[in-house]
Amino acid sequence: MKKLLKIVQVASEVAPFSKTGGLADVSRSLSKALRRLGHKVIVITPLYGRSIDKEEHHLELIFSDIVLRLNSQEKIKVNYWRGYLMDGLPVYFVECPKYFSKHTRLYGSDQENARFLVFNVAVLKLLSLLKFSADIIQCHDWQTGLIPYYLKTEFRYSQTLIKTKTIFTIHNLIFQLGHNWWGILPEHKDYGRSRLPHLADPALENINFAKRAILSADFINTVSEQYREEIMTKRFGQDLNRILQNRADRLVGIVNGIDYNTYNPAQDTALAKNYSFSNSEVKSENKIKLQQTFGLPVIKDMPIFCTTSRVTFQKGFELLIKLFPELIKLEAQFIIIGAGDKKYIGELQKLARKNPEKLVIVPSHEANQLYETLVYAGADFFLLPSNYEPCGINQLIAMRYGCVPIVRAIGGLYDTVEDFSAVARRGTGFTFENDNEFDLHGAIIRALEHYKNKRVWRPLVKRAMRQSNGWEIPAKKYVELYYKALKN
Ligand code: GLC
Repeated sequence: MKKLLKIVQVASEVAPFSKTGGLADVSRSLSKALRRLGHKVIVITPLYGRSIDKEEHHLELIFSDIVLRLNSQEKIKVNYWRGYLMDGLPVYFVECPKYFSKHTRLYGSDQENARFLVFNVAVLKLLSLLKFSADIIQCHDWQTGLIPYYLKTEFRYSQTLIKTKTIFTIHNLIFQLGHNWWGILPEHKDYGRSRLPHLADPALENINFAKRAILSADFINTVSEQYREEIMTKRFGQDLNRILQNRADRLVGIVNGIDYNTYNPAQDTALAKNYSFSNSEVKSENKIKLQQTFGLPVIKDMPIFCTTSRVTFQKGFELLIKLFPELIKLEAQFIIIGAGDKKYIGELQKLARKNPEKLVIVPSHEANQLYETLVYAGADFFLLPSNYEPCGINQLIAMRYGCVPIVRAIGGLYDTVEDFSAVARRGTGFTFENDNEFDLHGAIIRALEHYKNKRVWRPLVKRAMRQSNGWEIPAKKYVELYYKALKN
């Protein structure tokens, strides 16, 4: 047997402590899955002073007033707290009120780079305080991007980390630093190799953390195989396609999973009735509860479409908005739940006011959390016509609940949803290729037609529910990647 590893997971969000998106689920579930494989895992994340309740999460203070030397002139003090994700899986929180306790939201200040630079130095300092000589530090997204860079530069000779290898995981290449890369003047763009500006220097806010991570990490990975290919092209590469191509031999794709204990229709207490793939017809009882909950006419055989993502351009709302005047004519109900772009929400609300018996929109992140699984249990179709999608998690959860996905064949959606074929009796959903509303419309009509034939539909629902999307397989793939990095 290969030796068990010492692994550090670093992320700016970790559920249930902090969450704005799928990143928080991945950092939590992957850490747990690695722990279950027997490895020694620790997680490190910021302590957002206004949104993480220390008492509620039973955090204990473990180091206080630790001085971080940021460079020859600047220092700052931090504290470290500890909580647990599960037995034997500690989460360390970096507390630095000046940078992490001013706002209730997690991101969006005008000094995002400064905040996360402090966080990155604090992570490395903590590892030496704990004498945790990690084999692997896995850094998630730009907020952790200076860690691989520091390990090749300033922290090169750190006693504790002398043998440590880094993995940089790209969850969304659009985000490369605390600000919009495309908004930076060409003469101020970071080419990735200069010395870092001081904390007090506004030039720090132009430093591209993701680029530096891509240049320095021992391995880089994306959250699906298809997205790995896409980001090496000009169309999806966000200006980093060239440097990603140069590191293609160190760039891999590993599709995310979902937590099969959290998301299990056979045990989920939010449902009217539990079920599994062998009795999915029970979904109709959940449909009734869903219609009642959202004030739609209760009609047992009415097809229901849902979306549960953030209401944004990325998630394909441009197409949905164009198509909705057509969709609303269908004999079907639509439930849209999730916060986001005011422009799209306004348009949808207008339409919902005119067609209250057909369309409900609940623009709330909290409602999304609360009703998420009831929506999948009661609805028949899950819509996610994303413009781009590094992995996508909700289609995986929807499938587990027998809510058949209709998605654009792109990124992680391409990897996880197989287009239905009536002839071959294969497939777990409906996909379309091009970024236009006509193709989306086609996929929706195709799905509705097959829905009418229960002899075709039931096996399709069953296949979607049985597709294996837990974390065991991806976690093992990560471990293989870690061994590979250690060999190099
Ligand atoms: C980002 C991506 C999403 C992915 C998630 C977790 O939110 O946009 O596609 O599923 O990260 O990796």
